[in-house]
Amino acid sequence: MADATACLNWLAAPDPRLDMIQETLDAIVKDGHRTGDVIQRIRQLATRSAPPRVRLDLNDVVRDVIPLMRAELHGHEVALVLDLAADLPLVLGDRVQLQQVVLNLVMNAIEAMAGVTDRPRELRIGSARPDWDHVTVTVQDTGVGIDRSMLDRLFTAFFTTKPGGMGMGLSISRSIIEAHGGWLSAAANLPHGAIFQFSLAIDCGVAEGVHIARVAGAAP
Ligand SMILES: Nc1ncnc2c1ncn2[C@@H]1O[C@H](COP(=O)(O)OP(=O)(O)OP(=O)(O)O)[C@@H](O)[C@H]1O
Ligand SMILES: [Mg+2]
Repeated sequence: MADATACLNWLAAPDPRLDMIQETLDAIVKDGHRTGDVIQRIRQLATRSAPPRVRLDLNDVVRDVIPLMRAELHGHEVALVLDLAADLPLVLGDRVQLQQVVLNLVMNAIEAMAGVTDRPRELRIGSARPDWDHVTVTVQDTGVGIDRSMLDRLFTAFFTTKPGGMGMGLSISRSIIEAHGGWLSAAANLPHGAIFQFSLAIDCGVAEGVHIARVAGAAP
């Protein structure tokens, strides 16, 4: 920060020392890369330390996060619609990390709707079991939406379009979901806004148990 400020001051001088500015900017770029590497390592440590995995219901994870976002929803006049599937199979996961993912997605959704005045600001959180092996959680908003050209970069660390943003929320969220063996993706929500969805494999023990029970039930 101090180096960048110095550069700005030097540039404002009547006869700026371009060589010093070039040298200082080089140092700033190197520092940026180093900081990125350190954060990358911390993220790897955080996700590789194999936190305790418990069997949990993703609907409960969503419900646990709702009280934490009430004030934000109210403050930004956002309506919350819950569309949670009944009898969702359990997944294996770290409750706090998965709550953090939902909270990051919800905060982004609320922030994306902050400037919307010509349509309802609606946050929709849904869960589903799209196939036999997986459950998904979807966070949908009616905000500014995502430019096609930005889709690839959203999950990159430090990518942000917000003045006070760190650009870490999505990158950390994707690391957490991938460490759980799942995937997290983004798409446009037509006609307005964005949809973020993550998918996790259902707990095998439960899947096999249900399968065996079905086969047993079907047997004569
Ligand atoms: N729901 C959304 N609608 C539109 N753009 C979004 C949405 N979610 C994320 N983005 C875009 O992706 C960028 C990266 O999001 P990310 O959560 O990683 O960082 P951030 O929100 O900018 O900062 P922070 O580190 O505080 O979360 C955002 O700056 C924004 O441009
Ligand atoms: Mg964010």
